[in-house]
Amino acid sequence: MRRNIVAGNWKMNKSFAEADDLINSIAETLKEYDTTDVDVIVCPPYPYLELVSDVSEDADFFVGAQNVAKFDNGAYTGEISSSMLKGMGVDYCIVGHSERRKYFNETNKDVSEKIDKLLKEDITPIMCVGESLEEREGGNHFEVIRNQVQEGLFHLSADDMQRCIIAYEPVWAIGTGKTATKEQAQEIHAFIRKLIEEKYSDDVAQEVSILYGGSCNPQNARELFSMEDVDGGLIGGASLKAKDFIQIACSF
Ligand code: PGA
Repeated sequence: MRRNIVAGNWKMNKSFAEADDLINSIAETLKEYDTTDVDVIVCPPYPYLELVSDVSEDADFFVGAQNVAKFDNGAYTGEISSSMLKGMGVDYCIVGHSERRKYFNETNKDVSEKIDKLLKEDITPIMCVGESLEEREGGNHFEVIRNQVQEGLFHLSADDMQRCIIAYEPVWAIGTGKTATKEQAQEIHAFIRKLIEEKYSDDVAQEVSILYGGSCNPQNARELFSMEDVDGGLIGGASLKAKDFIQIACSF
């Protein structure tokens, strides 16, 4: 059965010293709360993975990366492979974030290849989908999401599909303070689950956690997570403050 999940995406933020403070503060704060019903994941920048992984050994959270190479090891200067991530204690990895699609020209095909590399190493992909403001205003959001889900994931077997997490992140809501309403989130989450059901089966669709991301914070998380098909959140800005992040994780 699908799990409640809250993942923090630190993006390209924090000095090493600040990252050290933040992760220790997350580990301490977690001790004060009951998070048995939720899997908490922290996705720091690559250079801080070892630090975060070390702290995770005595704390109740998992380690995630923000990106992975679509290649195996070899002559790909500047890239990080899925086997390297596995060796650092990484269990989850974000793929296809809208910032990667926008600034690094990542395509649905790139995303699907990265997902294959992750699954091969037994790392759970958190695949991001989401429409721009223009696409929503033009009434194309369902089509955009359908393409991203189909082209990113639907080459997978049913077994592999069940190992993936999807994050719906409307681009217009990321870092803008403009959250999707709970009805808007539920509508797209239900749509995504239906796509999985049609391609695979209801059983498979019920196994996949679908997270909401985009200006999620301690004030709006409970309302969003109360929706039937919203299984948690992918948190950017609010994951940079331990208390806010853990409050969000306790919003089920
Ligand atoms: P935000 O970012 O919470 O700062 O809007 C979410 C994300 O991009 O994952």
